[in-house]
Amino acid sequence: MVAQGWGKAVSPPVMNSMITMGEVPGGGPAQMDLGELLATRLLVQGNSGSGKSHLLRRLLEQSARMVQQAIIDPEGDFVSLAEKFGHLVIDGADHSEMALHAAGERMRMHRASVVLNLEGLDADQQMRWAAAFLGGMFEVPRQHWYPVLVVVDEAQLFAPAAAGEVSDEARRASLGAMTNLMCRGRKRGLAGIIATQRLAKLAKNVAAEASNFLMGRTFLDIDMARAADLLGMERRQAEAFRDLARGTFVALGPALSRRPLSVRIGSVETESRSAGPVLAPFEPPTAPVHELILAPVPVHDLPARQRKAPAPSAPDLLTQLAAHGEAQASVQAEQEQEEDTAETQAEREARMTAVLRDMMEDEESSFRPVPVLYQDFLVRCRIAGLGRNALDLRRFNRALATARSGVSEDTSSSTQWQEAESRASSLPEDLQAVFLFLARAAIERTPCPSDAQIAKVYGTVSTGRARRLLAWLEDQNLLVLRADGMGRRVLTFIGTGWETLPGMADS
Ligand SMILES: Nc1ncnc2c1ncn2[C@@H]1O[C@H](COP(=O)(O)OP(=O)(O)O)[C@@H](O)[C@H]1O
Ligand SMILES: [Mg+2]
Repeated sequence: MVAQGWGKAVSPPVMNSMITMGEVPGGGPAQMDLGELLATRLLVQGNSGSGKSHLLRRLLEQSARMVQQAIIDPEGDFVSLAEKFGHLVIDGADHSEMALHAAGERMRMHRASVVLNLEGLDADQQMRWAAAFLGGMFEVPRQHWYPVLVVVDEAQLFAPAAAGEVSDEARRASLGAMTNLMCRGRKRGLAGIIATQRLAKLAKNVAAEASNFLMGRTFLDIDMARAADLLGMERRQAEAFRDLARGTFVALGPALSRRPLSVRIGSVETESRSAGPVLAPFEPPTAPVHELILAPVPVHDLPARQRKAPAPSAPDLLTQLAAHGEAQASVQAEQEQEEDTAETQAEREARMTAVLRDMMEDEESSFRPVPVLYQDFLVRCRIAGLGRNALDLRRFNRALATARSGVSEDTSSSTQWQEAESRASSLPEDLQAVFLFLARAAIERTPCPSDAQIAKVYGTVSTGRARRLLAWLEDQNLLVLRADGMGRRVLTFIGTGWETLPGMADS
């Protein structure tokens, strides 16, 4: 396609990053520039049966030896790539959301191509699992930012234009992950390739980030209109999409062709091409990767808030603003600190704890992101005459976890509580409050909290999440859950003998 489409004035494409997708009408090869594709992403659209999955398979087969691949596969279409090309197939149904986040990170660290098979999961789960996996890929440290083709088939499932049956939480997470992939993935080496049967059902901002298009047979006017808009064609011209044969697509974009070009997609199972000097040859790992990628997640490896949608940028801005304000006010702060010396550290801490408790009484506070709470806390501390730099963010997090646990002053001064805090400190920050909340119930011998209460401390309304959290804490051998004769839960902390009274999970 490129060979056909680019004019003479443009420097010749580097042939070694080319793959052949099929044939152009005259009979020549329809090529796609993989190097360019990595930078400019691809959107494939066509009605069901138009040949999108076949097209994706062709692309994946042709490039499997040149670049690492990740496939989000809602229908289990692509698991067969494993046999010929060694992709690791991850069956979503067999793994937790957390394990998938870790798998997303690790597949990049170990440079293994992966098919994430989401067949058989309900829509809500498909979204959250995909979001966790994509989130892991996105958040991997910079030294692992090698190029990866990230193929998402039936992308309207993961980035729907409108709210559907699924929970808001799942939709937000999934849409966030897809937006990150298409809008901010490039810098991290992620090249989004998305296919959809209904352009009108795909979130606009996700579709708009692709610069390459392969448009297949399209029936509905609304989809045709969207396609014409994206391609910058007259709507009349787009009428041609109605008559396209299965397996024929109109190609346009820097990796494909400068002008709309019709392409007949070739067969699958062809041998892959050798890699060239532009794209570094991709060498799949020789050792089995299953253990490397899917081993249980050690506590300290878990990124904080991994299953939440990425924090909005506003709080970051707030933190930056606060830092700026602090610098400017350093002189004043020093004066304040001098005045402070009369007050003992213990007195200060008691007053800060009181400020935090006050904040926690505000119902809304459990659902506000930590950076926002931190700003609120700093302001309240200033008002209380505690100075500008009452606590740094890290110490604030600790104090917040303690405050969220709702522990009484009596309990908080006990040696048992010190033990609980020391155990909590080895957990990811976002889990510390829940852990302390449960520990408090056990130490104070109150009934085991309900799922809804646990969810609230975790900052969510999802009771499913609360149950997964409990299951995870059990997995880590931190506590054991058992049912009493009346179906109530009892929670015992391993190695301490702390135990709650029985409590209903759904009260
Ligand atoms: N270019 C092609 N050459 C041969 N067979 C094709 C081609 N494109 C699609 N097919 C076949 O047509 C059927 C539907 O294609 P598929 O890729 O599953 O469509 P979609 O994913 O758009 O619903 C499949 O059986 C597929 O093998
Ligand atoms: Mg398909």
